[in-house]
Amino acid sequence: MAKGRSAYRCQGCGFAAPKPGTCPDCARQGSYVALVEERTTPSRSERPRLPPGGRPQRLSEISVEGGERVQTGIGELDSVLGGGVVKGSLVLIGGDPGVGKSTLLLQASQALAERAGPVLYVSGEESAGQIKLRADRLGIAADGLYFLAETDLEVIESHVAGLKPRVLVVDSIQTVFLPDLESPPGSVSQVRECGGRLMLSAKARGVATFLVGHVTKDGAIAGPRVLEHLVDTVLYFEGERHHAYRVLRAVKNRFGSTNEIGVFEMANGGLTEVKNPSGFFLSERPRGAPGSVIVSSLEGTRPLLVELQALVAPASFGTPRRTVLGTDYNRVCLLLAVLEKRAGFPLQTQDAFVNVAGGGRVSEPAVDLGIAIAAASSYLDRPVRGDVVVIGEIGLTGEVRAVSGLPVRLKEAAALGFSSAVVPQNNLTPGQSHPLDVQGVGSVEDAVKALLGG
Ligand code: TYD
Ligand code: MG
Repeated sequence: MAKGRSAYRCQGCGFAAPKPGTCPDCARQGSYVALVEERTTPSRSERPRLPPGGRPQRLSEISVEGGERVQTGIGELDSVLGGGVVKGSLVLIGGDPGVGKSTLLLQASQALAERAGPVLYVSGEESAGQIKLRADRLGIAADGLYFLAETDLEVIESHVAGLKPRVLVVDSIQTVFLPDLESPPGSVSQVRECGGRLMLSAKARGVATFLVGHVTKDGAIAGPRVLEHLVDTVLYFEGERHHAYRVLRAVKNRFGSTNEIGVFEMANGGLTEVKNPSGFFLSERPRGAPGSVIVSSLEGTRPLLVELQALVAPASFGTPRRTVLGTDYNRVCLLLAVLEKRAGFPLQTQDAFVNVAGGGRVSEPAVDLGIAIAAASSYLDRPVRGDVVVIGEIGLTGEVRAVSGLPVRLKEAAALGFSSAVVPQNNLTPGQSHPLDVQGVGSVEDAVKALLGG
């Protein structure tokens, strides 16, 4: 920890540094602060510490960590965590304010309290009364679930020592503070020091700890990102405010695979799991509409079928507009340029709007071909057959490149009632059998011919 090792501490914000000079923390806000020599560090020995590591061990002698897991009872959350909550692990759940982090953790706390023993839910954002209101609304009434409205981390630690919970939830890391530091709660130094303290106590006491972190759209520096390297697991909870669905995504996981996602729907009674996300995203799909294409986006090990929509219309003046929602703007511009140059669509004179229906997000190269076909379909005002899934990455020369995980994508498409798929030629080997009709294409031009005719 920076605090114990460094000999200097900023007078202004408490930021610890190894040598005197400009404070890297407050300098960002334009203030120059001299660093002063730190008082004799008193707290090192008082802090909970990791058990001594001992001598170097052979790999074969080391007992496996992370074996002991408790299921939260929320299948989607368990799978994102890699199969449940690991004892003594530190999990950061980040997301925009209002996305549903507190709701998710409250629902998980209920099941954990029933299965694993005491759960302490510490909130620095809401009073105990407010949490109780929400819990009532969600129908949560577990005996082993304790609430504490507190922001002083030292007080929280003393309660953890007394109650000995199996699981601790700190909502949010931006509201807790260490009184020793002069900087306000939510500042980089507070977030980092509090995160470090909670990590040590999670490991030392074997308490699985969830930290809630708000991420703001403008990427506030003091956000939970400073904790990402420190914690075991980083989950992001995403979703558009005006859509009911929410995606929980693992971006780092020391106890499981990353890139797993869990899909939820926010309803009146809280979050419910969406077991069949593709069906959810496709539920309002228009049939036979030009510009609508179904693509398959692989999220971790899980293929997600989503509807991409494009609207291409003559530009009224000057530079044509490109508006993109739910996928990468630059990627779309690149694909439109490829479509123009390699397949002869005069898109320079056209405005183009691309949208992922239902407020979803796709960010995978395998949806390239779908974007290009949606734009071509809208330009030609000719629909793509409703029963076909379009899969493929596009290169700058207009070639359709192979994608990963084709078999699982095809399996999911077949399970949802699709009868054919247009896929990269390079993914196919002769004699292979598929769960649906598969047509291989080698270039964007081929794909336009196959899906939209001549
Ligand atoms: P919340 O969990 O407080 O978000 P966060 O902790 O990420 O800031 O959820 C806030 C939103 O969720 C709020 O706008 C209301 C909505 N909500 C529901 O729609 N249904 C519910 O049952 C609950 C508890 C919240
Ligand atoms: Mg909250």
